[in-house]
Amino acid sequence: MMAKSSLLSVLAATTVLLTGASATLDPIVIKGSKFFFKTNGTQFFIKGVAYQQGVAANGGGGASGTTSYVDPLADTASCTRDIPELVKLGANTIRTYALDPTLNHDTCMQLLDAAGIYVISDLGEPDLSIDRTNPEWNTELYSRYTAVVDAMSSYSNVIGFFAGNEVPNNLSYVDSTPFVKAAVRDTKAYIASKGYRAMGVGYAADDDATVRANVAAYLNCGDVASQIDFWGYNIYEWCGDSNYQESGYAARTAEFANYSVPAFFAEYGCNTQGGGAAGRKFTEIAALYGPDMSPVFSGGIVYEYFEETNDYGLVSVDGDSLSTLADFTAWQTQIAAVKPTSVSAAAYSPTNTVGQACPTVDASTWAVQASPLPPTPNEAACSCMVASLSCVASSSLNGTVIGELFAQVCGYPGNPCSGVARNASTGVYGAWSMCNATEQLSNAFDTYYKGQKSASTACNFGGAAAVVKPAAAASTCSSVIAQATASNPVSGSSSGSSAASSSKKNDASGLTYGGNMWAGKVFAVGFTITALLSGMGIILL
Ligand SMILES: *[C@@H]1O[C@H](CO)[C@@H](O)[C@H](O)[C@H]1NC(C)=O
Ligand SMILES: *[C@@H]1O[C@H](CO)[C@@H](O)[C@H](O)[C@H]1NC(C)=O
Ligand SMILES: *[C@@H]1O[C@H](CO)[C@@H](O)[C@H](O)[C@H]1NC(C)=O
Ligand SMILES: *[C@@H]1O[C@H](CO)[C@@H](O)[C@H](O)[C@H]1NC(C)=O
Ligand SMILES: *[C@@H]1O[C@H](CO)[C@@H](O)[C@H](O)[C@H]1NC(C)=O
Ligand SMILES: *[C@@H]1O[C@H](CO)[C@@H](O)[C@H](O)[C@H]1NC(C)=O
Repeated sequence: MMAKSSLLSVLAATTVLLTGASATLDPIVIKGSKFFFKTNGTQFFIKGVAYQQGVAANGGGGASGTTSYVDPLADTASCTRDIPELVKLGANTIRTYALDPTLNHDTCMQLLDAAGIYVISDLGEPDLSIDRTNPEWNTELYSRYTAVVDAMSSYSNVIGFFAGNEVPNNLSYVDSTPFVKAAVRDTKAYIASKGYRAMGVGYAADDDATVRANVAAYLNCGDVASQIDFWGYNIYEWCGDSNYQESGYAARTAEFANYSVPAFFAEYGCNTQGGGAAGRKFTEIAALYGPDMSPVFSGGIVYEYFEETNDYGLVSVDGDSLSTLADFTAWQTQIAAVKPTSVSAAAYSPTNTVGQACPTVDASTWAVQASPLPPTPNEAACSCMVASLSCVASSSLNGTVIGELFAQVCGYPGNPCSGVARNASTGVYGAWSMCNATEQLSNAFDTYYKGQKSASTACNFGGAAAVVKPAAAASTCSSVIAQATASNPVSGSSSGSSAASSSKKNDASGLTYGGNMWAGKVFAVGFTITALLSGMGIILL
């Protein structure tokens, strides 16, 4: 089934671009737990394809400002080659995993628009995403997330975003969930504050039996402004000729029957039935869009367009040439046959209007307080805080050294790290835990220094710290600082001792603290695109 990506399809796509550039897809809106076309209120089911080629081997790049991923919506040659194939497949949505907000997306987005294809994208990228092993929601992540929102906001065919992908994926990492929820809260607030068209902010979840129910409930509980707008499920339960009951789909469907926002499969397409990707028959599609599931799930996104070493591809590409693989036809055939029963927006009055109850806090399975959530990143507040300090960290420290210094200072007396503490089980998040690493370290140095009555020896740390004259604070600083510390006390009075032990605990993780996020290394532990694309993540599912 060799379909050489012909000059013809390129020409066809280009013609579409030139003649149909003004086409504007009707936005997709959310009502209750379903998606609808905004104008005519017809229900919308996602017939999606994951569309992003792997990050370079070992993650590649990243160190000197170069990105370690190729933005598929800025790669005009590739999207021009591929969009006609997505049309042939019958896809109406693609999922992208990492976009570069500094690049121009006009051509690919217009080609997709003209082809009737919507986009849902992750907001992180391999080097900058919520890291499950050392979760934070900080100014760097906030500016990345909001930059991607800005870059995509003008296209009417953007359905929304994922604020995280498989972040808490087993019991060891449930404490990363509040950071995902804080990211959801702040990204939603940002979209509203900019007056952008409604675009959803959801989460793409791992299907881990030990955490999935609590994660789903947690992200759909409490304050509505902090809840996800949709739940994307990365599911590989149906392998080969399974069925609705045996696969686990029936149980998953029952679990989401009352969910108050749309749920869909953000990835599916088990390939373990024998024969790898090419052996996939996609019999799950009839179930997903059939009478049992379509009242609950709004379709799904097959993993994935590109054949890579992990062997999940529908097509294989090599430069200009493209071959469709056996499962291309299988997916195309199955998706063409679906006829989900739908309801119009006008006729639909959601019954499941309340979110879930927040999961019960439990030491062994869910040591996660529902509130408060980690603070909203605020660069101005962080600058004000640093300007107020008398002992600051050198600006030239690399991530490894910062991690070592945290390990050192947090172990010192006087609770010096309370302002930057993060503890999901106590729900204590220091006001400055949302600042960048250098700013956080300065805060800890200064707290220690002042606790030592400003002894000159208490602000040295091997030359990494220096005494400074606090800068004349900007007039706005006192209120900004007051606001930041009001919602998240810097040093807890009653929680002082727990904050102290949390700081201690952070000692050990202090070493990875620097390594992942700040040293420009390609680690991406919390962001499973690397694992997915290399075939490791999926096997674990
Ligand atoms: C509603 O609009 C969408 C997109 O414009 C279109 O695909 C769909 O067929 C329309 N529904 C009806 C019932 O006409
Ligand atoms: C969670 O996954 C990590 C990494 O794969 C592993 O080290 C850890 O033991 C797992 N935790 C549990 C509770 O399974
Ligand atoms: C959904 O709601 C129905 C009716 O209120 C209830 O009987 C059922 O237990 C709920 N299911 C779940 C999974 O919460
Ligand atoms: C942290 O913030 C300071 C300003 O307070 C800035 O100079 C520095 O470059 C930032 N560091 C990182 C790693 O972003
Ligand atoms: C970080 O800085 C230290 C001290 O200057 C240096 O020894 C180390 O090699 C640096 N590490 C990296 C990864 O740049
Ligand atoms: C959070 O605080 C609790 C209670 O003080 C403590 O047992 C736990 O180790 C802390 N967790 C972290 C990650 O610091």
